[in-house]
Order: sequence, then structure tokens, then C-alpha cells
Amino acid sequence: MKKVITYGTYDLFHEGHCNLLKRAKALGDYLIVGVTTEYYDLQRGKLNVVDSVLERVENVRRTGLADEIIIEDHEGQKQEDIQKMGVDIFAIGSDWVGAFDYLKELCQVVYLERTPHISSTSLREHQYPILQLGVVGSGRIAPRFLAEAKYVSGINACAVYNPHEESAGAFGSRHKLEAFSGEFDAFLERVDAIYIASPHQTHYTYAKKALEQGRHVLCEKPLTFTVKEAEELYALAAERDAVLMEGIKTAYCPGFMQMMNVARSGIIGEVRDVEACFSRITPPALREMKDRQYGGAFLEFGSYTLLPIFKLLGCHYEQVEFDCIRAENGVDLYTKVHFRFRDALAMSKTGIGVKSEGQLVIGGTKGYILAESPWWLTRSFEVRFEDPGRIERYTPKFLGDGLRYEIADFVSRINGDARQSYCLTREESIAMAGVVERFMEAQRK
Ligand code: CTP
Repeated sequence: MKKVITYGTYDLFHEGHCNLLKRAKALGDYLIVGVTTEYYDLQRGKLNVVDSVLERVENVRRTGLADEIIIEDHEGQKQEDIQKMGVDIFAIGSDWVGAFDYLKELCQVVYLERTPHISSTSLREHQYPILQLGVVGSGRIAPRFLAEAKYVSGINACAVYNPHEESAGAFGSRHKLEAFSGEFDAFLERVDAIYIASPHQTHYTYAKKALEQGRHVLCEKPLTFTVKEAEELYALAAERDAVLMEGIKTAYCPGFMQMMNVARSGIIGEVRDVEACFSRITPPALREMKDRQYGGAFLEFGSYTLLPIFKLLGCHYEQVEFDCIRAENGVDLYTKVHFRFRDALAMSKTGIGVKSEGQLVIGGTKGYILAESPWWLTRSFEVRFEDPGRIERYTPKFLGDGLRYEIADFVSRINGDARQSYCLTREESIAMAGVVERFMEAQRK
């Protein structure tokens, strides 16, 4: 019996997929089809897949062409499958010519002619009109967003707003945007969605105005300074059927999600302690060093360090305490936040004028996870145990500077059925606003 294997995402199953499966089947007697998981697609940079893995498997099954369907979830799996399953022929579409020649030492490799003029990408573009997105603010992070948005299909960054129209104009022409504006309402007219990258204290007002107009909002952290405001924005988004997402990029990175899932899997037992640190020595001229009210280490980096704490221990802590070292102008240069949960402790450390080891340690009853700096991008982490010789190392992929994952999730939320992201839930985002609120209260005192 001649066994043939082929792989694909098979998103929005189309005629090209069907033709390919027919051709692959005709090469032998038994056809195995590998369908990628969402996680694997994210890792290899295929963002914005619409159908779930189960739907995609079901669509392949319905063709009646596959004798066996398997799931592909990691790099190197093709070699494993070919050897394990005794495959004779590896077949794939002609868009991949040459890419799989390395499999020739294991089996025959056949590139099959691709059906012209159809692809999942083009269907995605037809199914959903390209989202027109405007950027609010033209500071340090806005250019990074524009660079990363190019990797996400279905979105076009077309406009920028800055109350100083000249700055908006300069930014717009530097980044070849179609429009710029110093008038927020006029700017909103042009776009379906906005990314808010303006100073912290303006987030709430811009987000509220945009949601009232039914625009989708991706807002840089911190979303708001109070629980009430955060709740109000999420309620408004639900009422207007708009997406509201807080842009804590770590939350959307595949490696970070994997680390959270490993921590929850029981391998380190019950999680009893989370310690997260993020510090960056910041030049004195920058806003976060100068702005007494809205600058400082905690408002700048606290969202990153709070994230693993709330993800792993939940949003209901019993006690929270803040301790800061302040500069003469009152800005917090180094802040420790200590949490007590019913069965666990947690610590967030953030610094702009004090440098510390930027690591994340998740302590459990059977072992612990250590993720070294930059753990917030999560390119690697280790699971360690009492026996120092036993270490399990994970090295997830991380592409670009990570914003693309957040943008892809935003687009999927807008185009999909689920308005809320599980990467960062509304509850987690509101709980973070609660800590910010208490911190600012303590700061005022
Ligand atoms: N394929 C094909 N003809 C097409 C589209 C895809 O023969 N018009 C083949 C691919 O070469 C691959 C398989 O179908 O062997 C699964 O491809 P997949 O990447 O899932 O589909 P695409 O439509 O190419 O997806 P995308 O646009 O997201 O890259």
C-alpha cells in the first residue's frame, strides 16, 4: 500500500484545497492529511486564521478524501510522522517548491500544481473588508505598531491623530499614512478602529469617545486609572457591539500563553508564589521620569508584572501593599507591590531608576518555573524541581517585537464571533485598573 501525506491549515476550505487533496490521493492508496493547530500557526507567523482547528479538520473530513487526519503542532513533526507512519510520498502545493526538499532522504517529495486565483488569504480579504485603523498619538510606540501591523492581514493603518496637527502631519507623511488630523471627531470619521498610544491620562477619554461612535478600540496600557472607568468602557463596548482590548502585548504572545498553560498544568503542583520584575533605566528627560502624576515605574511597567500574577492566581487578592523609592520630583523610581491571596503570595517589581534582574519566577508545591529577561517576550522558560539535575526547557517562537500577535487578536475579535479575548479577559483588565487606582490613591497620600 502506497501512503501519501500532505499538510495545511485549510482555513475557509476552498476549491484549491479540494483539488490538492484529490491530486495527493491519486498519487497512492492511502492519504494522511495533517491539519495545523492555531498555536502552531501563530508560531510560524500565520496570523488571523478564521476557522478553528476542529472546523478545519471537519472540512477536510467532509471531502471523504482523507483516510486519516492528524494534527500538526510543531516544527520537525513532518519528519517524525513520515518515519512513524511509514509514508512513501510527501505531497504539497507548488507554492512550496523546494521548501521541503530536505524530506527527500525520508520519502519521495512531490510538488503538486496549485489551483490558480484562490487562497485562504484572498477569501479572508473578501469575507471581511479590510479594517481601516487610525493611530491616536504619534509618540515612541506608534511607529512600532505600524511596522508590526504590516504582518497582520485584514488591517490597514490609514490615519493618525494628534491634537497638535503639525505633529500628526509630520508623522503621517513620515509613515505614508493616507490621512492625519488634529480633530478627533474628523479622525474617527475615517476609521473603523483605533489604536490608542497617547499619554496614559488621555486613554479613557479617547476610548470612550471612540466606543460611543461604535469604533473598535485597542488601547495601550494602562487602560484607565480606576475600576469605574474600566467597567464603564467595557460596558460601553458591549452595548455598541465594539471590541475593546487593552494592549498588554505579553498577554497575546504564544510563548507567554504556553508558559501560563504549563504553570496551570500541575507540573509544578499548586501555584503558591509569582514574582515578576521589569526594570529599565530611563533617561531623565523622558516623560516617565518627569511627570509626577502620570509618570513613574509602576504606571509604565506594572501592567506587565501584574499580568502573570492575575493570570495564575486570579483577580481576587486579600491584600495589596505598595512600597516605592521616589525621585526628588516625587516620581516612583522603583516600586514593589506585594499581594496576599488566600493560598498564595505575589510580588511585582518595576523600576525606571533602579535596575534589577528582570525575571519571572512561578513557585509551586512541586517545582517552579523560571523565565529570564525578557520574560515578557517569552522566548524561553524552564521548569525546575527540587532535584537540580531535572530541568525542562521550553523555547517558544516569538516574531518581531510581539505587537503583531496583539494586533492579530484584535482583528480576529472584530471579525469573529467572540468579542472578548481570552488572552486578556475583561475581568483581568479591570482588576489591573483596580491596582492602578489603589496605587494612585496611595501616591496622592
Ligand atoms: N493549495 C493549492 N491551491 C490553492 C491554495 C492552496 O493547491 N489555490 C494547497 C497548498 O499548496 C497546500 C494546501 O493547499 O498544499 C493547504 O494550503 P493552505 O496554506 O492551507 O491554503 P492557502 O489557501 O494557500 O492559505 P493561505 O492563503 O493562508 O496561505
